[in-house]
Amino acid sequence: MAIRSDRTPQEYEVLTGGGAESAELEHKGLSRRQFLRRAVGVTVGIVGVEAVAGALYMLYPNLAGQFGTVISLKNKTTYVGAQQKDFALDQKGMFYEPDAKSYIMHLLPGGSTKFLLGGTNLQNAFTAEDWTVDSDGSYWLALYQVCVHLGCKVPFRDDCNSFKCPCHGSHYNIDGEYLDGPAPRSLDRFPLAFDKSGTVTVDTGKLNQRVERPDPTTRILQPPAGVCSAS
Ligand code: FES
Repeated sequence: MAIRSDRTPQEYEVLTGGGAESAELEHKGLSRRQFLRRAVGVTVGIVGVEAVAGALYMLYPNLAGQFGTVISLKNKTTYVGAQQKDFALDQKGMFYEPDAKSYIMHLLPGGSTKFLLGGTNLQNAFTAEDWTVDSDGSYWLALYQVCVHLGCKVPFRDDCNSFKCPCHGSHYNIDGEYLDGPAPRSLDRFPLAFDKSGTVTVDTGKLNQRVERPDPTTRILQPPAGVCSAS
């Protein structure tokens, strides 16, 4: 029986009493061996793609909301702002957030808040040190909790109005800038922002480790008064 190339496999099957697969082969001009090779190739390809996708999922699990990603904290009204000398941990000015492993600073201008820089120098320092300036004129930072000397967790000390590391005494101002001690630089920090609803977000995947020790000509805030004891 002559095969017409314009027939569908289904038509051919009706005419010949079966053999849709043969009709398909005939229609496409393929031998059975070629057909089988292609079928095996497609199957191997699909299995390979699934295996790679599974491996990637295992290696890179969904980290959304975990440390190392952008973490949404509380509404910014939760973090009560304060002027420099009025900070009290978890009450006003400075708040510890364990999920972000960070201290959230909310500094109000005026009063005891004394900037040592001004104009373009101050704006450049804000950018370099990841300060966020809110629309109400207050200032925000997300400071990583780890001492840049040898990695101890650094507490904020209300009695010192600053951070003091219990391990070897490195001392940092409320904005994380180095004051004294063996630390090679200022505290590291993460970018902080607000979403549309006013929730504070911290990008814990982008650690800024480039804030050097300031000197009197580059320091942003006035150092705290007095000596901070070891404990
Ligand atoms: S680890 Fe903080 S001063 Fe050494």
